[in-house]
Amino acid sequence: MRILIVYHSDYGNTEKMAQAMAAGAKAVLAKADIILKQSGDTVPGDLVAADVILFGTPVHMGSMAWQMKKLIDECGKLWMENALDGKIGGVFVTGGGFGGAGGGVELTMASLYSHFLEQGMVVVGFPKDSSGYADGGLQWGPYARTNNHEGMPEGITEAQLVAARSYGAHVVEIAEKLLRD
Ligand SMILES: Cc1cc2nc3c(=O)[nH]c(=O)nc-3n(C[C@H](O)[C@H](O)[C@H](O)COP(=O)(O)O)c2cc1C
Repeated sequence: MRILIVYHSDYGNTEKMAQAMAAGAKAVLAKADIILKQSGDTVPGDLVAADVILFGTPVHMGSMAWQMKKLIDECGKLWMENALDGKIGGVFVTGGGFGGAGGGVELTMASLYSHFLEQGMVVVGFPKDSSGYADGGLQWGPYARTNNHEGMPEGITEAQLVAARSYGAHVVEIAEKLLRD
């Protein structure tokens, strides 16, 4: 199984989530071929070569970072070719705050999924009984609030990384079932 994890990260929080997702995926399928890439280093052909595509971004002004949107727009030609039909997708997001989840986290997750669905992909939700869900889970996938209550950067917590690991594992378990049938 080829798993591509694409993310943008300026300060390392979203990158830590990407690494946790990879660790979770590897824990359930040691032989998985897992590639982590910054969006700026990713080309549409990387997505075509993958079975599972995971997208991660920080929230920037209530939406995804432009670096992720640039890649998504570059993948428009894949839509013309139906090249991502049936691939399996999942998302993860970090936001500073304010508010419990960080302003715009859910909207950002939904907009990443909107792209996946437009490309004909299958998306994987995050079951509420997964480990870490109470600290870093939303139905869309794992998230982290990285600022403290004063709005100052605090970084991602271990509890939030537990959620990222369990979601990475869950996506692979679902993908194994779908790819087998
Ligand atoms: C330009 C910019 C805009 C941001 N806008 C938001 C926002 O709208 N909502 C939010 O919760 N956090 C916002 N943040 C905070 C980041 O989402 C947060 O610090 C994130 O964890 C950074 O991820 P990174 O360490 O992977 O770069 C913004 C940060 C930057 C740099």
